[in-house]
Amino acid sequence: MQAFFTWLRAEHPIARVEAEGYRPFWVVTRHADIREIERQPAIFNAGPRNTLLPIAAEEANMALFGVEAGFETLVVLDGERHYELRQMTQDYFLPKNVRRLEGMVDNLAAAFVDRLMATGGRCDIAADIVFWYPLRVAMTVLGIDEANEARMLKLTHELFGASDPAVRRPGMSLVEHSIAVKRDYIAFFDEITQDRRANPRDDVSTIIARGLPNEHDLSPEERLGYYVIVATAGHDTTAASIAAGIQALIDQPDFIAALREDPALVKSFANEAIRFCAPVKHFFRNVTAEYTLGDVTFRPGDHIMLHYGAATRDEAVFPDAQTFRIDRTPNNHLAFGYGPHQCLGQFLAKMEIEAFFRALVRRVDRIEADGAPAYTQATFVTGLRGLPVRCSFA
Ligand code: HEM
Repeated sequence: MQAFFTWLRAEHPIARVEAEGYRPFWVVTRHADIREIERQPAIFNAGPRNTLLPIAAEEANMALFGVEAGFETLVVLDGERHYELRQMTQDYFLPKNVRRLEGMVDNLAAAFVDRLMATGGRCDIAADIVFWYPLRVAMTVLGIDEANEARMLKLTHELFGASDPAVRRPGMSLVEHSIAVKRDYIAFFDEITQDRRANPRDDVSTIIARGLPNEHDLSPEERLGYYVIVATAGHDTTAASIAAGIQALIDQPDFIAALREDPALVKSFANEAIRFCAPVKHFFRNVTAEYTLGDVTFRPGDHIMLHYGAATRDEAVFPDAQTFRIDRTPNNHLAFGYGPHQCLGQFLAKMEIEAFFRALVRRVDRIEADGAPAYTQATFVTGLRGLPVRCSFA
């Protein structure tokens, strides 16, 4: 796939895509072009079309939920309303506040490495260990207990993996599946809202349940979308980045000793794992006014796919872009997006990934592949979902 993106960046950096079952769109693969677009949110709106969905799913979402994307989350909102809603939790996720979660995150990282030790070192490290760790962090941030964790993980996989037949609910079409998943989310978060209104706590669910004063308050769709984005945006993405980092330790075994000897490398290693994986492969922008970029003129009503997965390997920005470099600096990748929608959870995500690898290299000497890796078969959030390994302990 990366060879194809290299060719696209060189030959057709802004390419027109017309595929059966999908509305046409442009795909943008160069780092500089994506930044230029994201810098101008009034011309390039985040909504209503926000990710790649088949027309049938978009129409069903519209008919059933009144939102093309299925959920009215922060990522599909624009302008003042986006700003207002983002402000609600922005403070919580700033580095100075995220730092107070550091002890909790370190303890969880150590506990998950303990879980790896308990397997004797032979397991599917992605499915059995890694995927559960950022989920627990996200659930702690929302104040959701461990009893409901498996329910949330399943819902998130079902949401992002809807196009993957292995994830789809048995006997359901894509549309039926999407509706069923949404209903389950509504039921889940309605209970949380009722509870936090009665018993406020120091968690993000309480901020969302409390909402905004008077006529600014969130609609039921916005409130649901807010829970869903905080609950879902942070785990498959962070887990896939960790899995990519583990794959790098398998491919380049010297990295383990290097990380152990120079803890400062953990930061650049973690950021490189995010660049290399770029788990969020794309978001869409919707053109509101004529705009020329390179030799393409976008017209109002056009749709643009910003391909972060391609832009994070742009040779114009990243020397030796296809190589995982432990000490890559600078590393201004676009895996967290750019502009007003830039990932709200990026500092938390980095903290989680760094904590995991610090804990891992303290205990593990060597990681070897023990079977074929498996990748999510989807177009939006993807990465390694299975990584059988054999670990030797320090
Ligand atoms: C938005 C990536 C982890 C919460 C985004 C966007 C990307 C992204 C690409 C859209 C940016 C844009 O449109 O310009 C990632 C990656 C992660 C990660 C790669 C892990 C490695 C997290 C975590 C959380 C989180 C841990 C919080 C718990 C959000 C939220 C938004 C967002 C709330 C919407 C922001 C907005 O639209 O204003 N993320 N994310 N993400 N992310 Fe993350």
